[in-house]
Amino acid sequence: MASKQFCEKANFQTCFKGTICCTSKFDKPFSLVIVPEEKNDEFDDNLEKYENYVALNIGPDGAEFKIKLGEDKLETLKTCSNGLEEGVRQTYWWSYDKDGKKLKYGKGHTMDKTTLMSYAFEDSSYDKFKLFLNPNTNCRSTVLLYGSLKDCKQDKINEGSIDYEPLILVNKEPLTFTPSPILKEFKPVELDDLDEAGYTLPIKLPLECEKIFKNIKNIKVLDPHLINQIRNSIETEGLKLNEVLKEKSYLRITIGENRGNSPGCPNVLEIWPAGAESPIHNHGRCSAVIKVLHGSIQCSIFNKITNPPAKSPEHLDMFVASEGDYTWMNDRWFQTHQLKNVSDDYCATLQCYQYAPEDPTHYPQFDYYKHEELAKFEPGSDLTFEKMKKIVAREWEDKAQNEVEERKLVDIKRRITSLNSSGIQTKDIKNLESRVKRIEDLKNFI
Ligand SMILES: [Fe+2]
Repeated sequence: MASKQFCEKANFQTCFKGTICCTSKFDKPFSLVIVPEEKNDEFDDNLEKYENYVALNIGPDGAEFKIKLGEDKLETLKTCSNGLEEGVRQTYWWSYDKDGKKLKYGKGHTMDKTTLMSYAFEDSSYDKFKLFLNPNTNCRSTVLLYGSLKDCKQDKINEGSIDYEPLILVNKEPLTFTPSPILKEFKPVELDDLDEAGYTLPIKLPLECEKIFKNIKNIKVLDPHLINQIRNSIETEGLKLNEVLKEKSYLRITIGENRGNSPGCPNVLEIWPAGAESPIHNHGRCSAVIKVLHGSIQCSIFNKITNPPAKSPEHLDMFVASEGDYTWMNDRWFQTHQLKNVSDDYCATLQCYQYAPEDPTHYPQFDYYKHEELAKFEPGSDLTFEKMKKIVAREWEDKAQNEVEERKLVDIKRRITSLNSSGIQTKDIKNLESRVKRIEDLKNFI
């Protein structure tokens, strides 16, 4: 233990309650430690000099919760075999909940499904541990990181969003539940709905997401004309969307300008042909609300993208959102996902992005998995919405015109056949044939 040095300190925002996220490329074992007092500089070389503490120790063989109380021996509360990932920039998190009397440890995003170890203080041991469960009114506590100074102060190679995260970040809330990524609005809201775990109500969204939702909740789904025009452009060889889609899986149609508070344009209409899928990606730690405006999309939630990224990541959750449905994310929840259109029609989704006010980075890119490597995607624009609407409307008019001409051709050809069989004069047939040619020339010109 003594080989670990003090590296960094932080504080809970609420007395003995919150989630401590520690992000670095650790090569050596380290400890996150909670002491019920201010930091003591004289103990920087040996945390065991503190009389009382709770620690999360993480090493190559696993992780453990330990507690020290006065003269008592250091006591192991819980162990697990999932510990240090040498050479990987990873987030190791520790949820501390004095009210629920629970400690949880995990990696990546803080979620129930990424929890690797949990410990519940038993009621019978409450008196013994009350220093850490029922602090006095002058609650003093400090979060300390002990480890190799080299691991804590290393120069970062900024390759992905995770490389911009602070060494220690303390969130106010401990992990007590994982909300639903499905956002639903009910009018009126019944009392039962307040406790429904199957979806998230707008009033329960994080503040940034609630703001975005208020902005877009009245946006209508696509109207039937535009739906048909877009489908025509996607499915017809040589038309605009069909051509752009030869180069990429799905389209980003931007609405308005980048206002400087989102990765790329804040409002994007994404068009997903049947079978299209995105890579697994994150969103620069921004908040977002996504509304399905046509069709349906399958959304798979993944754990945080580490650097280097995990091999063969598996989804943590999966659901299908259909026309009129919403999903949401912020830096803490559902930040990493993959969208896939598993239906046989195209899907259109509106994505609205915004950085949280406390975000000091405004990371401008989306990280994604490219053949198991970390890659970055600049969220750009394939077309503006205004331009796309004009193009697909013109293509639709052309199609209608073509269909009229086609019908005329069929009719004239039918008349020629009929005249031929009835022995009519050659001159009349020639006239009709020259009309056919003119229409065909006109069609070719269009
Ligand atoms: Fe996305």
